Amino acid sequence: MLQLIIVMLMISLAPLIISDRNLVKINEEYLENDLLDSHAQRARQTADEVSGHLRHTIEKLEIIARLLPLTQSFSDIQKYQLLFFFLDEYKDLISITLLDTQRNSIAEVVRPDMSGLYLEERKKIRDQVFDQSMQGNVFVADPLSISEKKTAIVTIGLPVFQENNMTGILLADMSMDKIWEIVDKVSFRQSGEAYLIDRLGRLIAGKDRPGVLRQENMKDVEIVGKYLSLGKTGGAIPFADKNGKEMLGAYAPLDFEGWGVVVQEPRVDAYTMVAEMKRQILVWGGITGILVCGIGIFFARKISVPIINFTKSALVIAQGNFKEKITVRAKNEIGQLAETFNYMVKQLDLYDKNMRRLFMSAISSLAAAIDERDPYTRGHSERVTEYSLVIADEMKLDLKTREILHIAALLHDIGKIGIDDSILRKPSGLSKAEYNLIKQHPGKGANIMAPIKQLQKIIPSMRHHHERYDGEGYPDGIRGEEIPLPARIIAVADTFDAMTSDRPYQVATDEEEVMELIKSWAGTRFDPKVCEAFIQAFRNNRIKGIKRKMLEEKPYHHPASVRPDIA
Ligand SMILES: [Fe+2]
Repeated sequence: MLQLIIVMLMISLAPLIISDRNLVKINEEYLENDLLDSHAQRARQTADEVSGHLRHTIEKLEIIARLLPLTQSFSDIQKYQLLFFFLDEYKDLISITLLDTQRNSIAEVVRPDMSGLYLEERKKIRDQVFDQSMQGNVFVADPLSISEKKTAIVTIGLPVFQENNMTGILLADMSMDKIWEIVDKVSFRQSGEAYLIDRLGRLIAGKDRPGVLRQENMKDVEIVGKYLSLGKTGGAIPFADKNGKEMLGAYAPLDFEGWGVVVQEPRVDAYTMVAEMKRQILVWGGITGILVCGIGIFFARKISVPIINFTKSALVIAQGNFKEKITVRAKNEIGQLAETFNYMVKQLDLYDKNMRRLFMSAISSLAAAIDERDPYTRGHSERVTEYSLVIADEMKLDLKTREILHIAALLHDIGKIGIDDSILRKPSGLSKAEYNLIKQHPGKGANIMAPIKQLQKIIPSMRHHHERYDGEGYPDGIRGEEIPLPARIIAVADTFDAMTSDRPYQVATDEEEVMELIKSWAGTRFDPKVCEAFIQAFRNNRIKGIKRKMLEEKPYHHPASVRPDIA
């Protein structure tokens, strides 16, 4: 049944598992593509926003740069006041400096809290921006981190023109705070985030504020490396972060100087939906599995239980018990098969009974034929059988032993076929030689039956019916339990019938007397247990009258009536 259930489960669950696996795989692929697209879009939006802020600042600076040539007539203080006005107006700006083309400062305003910080680094950057702006371009330097203030500034330079001649450079330091804010606010699911890198791959904005302040080099991060190597293009890839954690990320360039926005999130977070889907599939798959299991077991039992019962009953029947019936309640093919099988068993039972009857009749006839050779022993075998079976009842013997006893008792004297009539029917006492010949009959009987395979279990009980319990019997002189039980029973029954029957050499002894004699022979001639059973049966009136009753049913002519010389 287990095999049947496994097969049913395989048939029902295999397609479910395969389809679920494919479904998950397809969904993962779709989801990954969707997530990468969505990350790329988010990176692009963030980059646009940062670019927009920078552009907006530059536009403000361009307004200042366009206004400055108009202030030629202004005193230095007035120019300073104008710059201060702009500084006050544009809160992102930390300083505004106007330089002539010879790098001389014409006017400079700095927010008081930021003045005097990192002068050396600022000077280097400002020189670089000045040089770039002198090419006639707007230039945005990489940010300078001011750890002390937990902020960073970025220097922007743009040329100042008067009537198409470059007359100076306007330098402005802009706070990165607003850009940080733009980048920081990018947040999705559990741990999706964005960060900004400069043209060298250093971290210049992002939630990792200490990393931002020390401008941590991110070149080794796969996605940053890819961005830097491809340069100024957008893209999205799955990658591993510094700690080897699997991530999904996208990058997008800013419009300015190679800065780029990276958006990323751990793959495991991105796949929350897939994990949920897998969980759901597992749960429903499990429920379906249990249901399929239950249904499978139910139907498997419906098929297997009748088959198992069928097999059990068939085995019992095969062992010869034709009373066994197969009970199958199912109104299907198995039920029909059981009915047919039962009918067949019924027929077999009838056939078996007939065969047994025929067999027993044949044996009875054979036994009767032996007995008939001597008118004094007519009916002897049948009576011995009757007494033996009564003893067997008393001893509560099992069916198989009773069957052996029954046949052995009927055939016990079959060996007399080989004894000459002159000895067998001798009315007077026998000589020793004649008696020795008579004593051969159990062995002869066993030899006659030896070729019959079906009687092999019977033969020992026939052969030893003249053995004595004390070992003084014949033909083999075996003793006690060595003598087969049916033979020990036949010995008692045989003696009882012989002694209670008229013989040419004896007059029948009274049944009671014989019973007493048998009682006295317990442990010497006979098995005490068999004697006890016989005596019990005798006291229960199960022995007395058997002979009379059998004669009534099947009258024999008493030898006296045909042999007046004896009478
Ligand atoms: Fe005998």
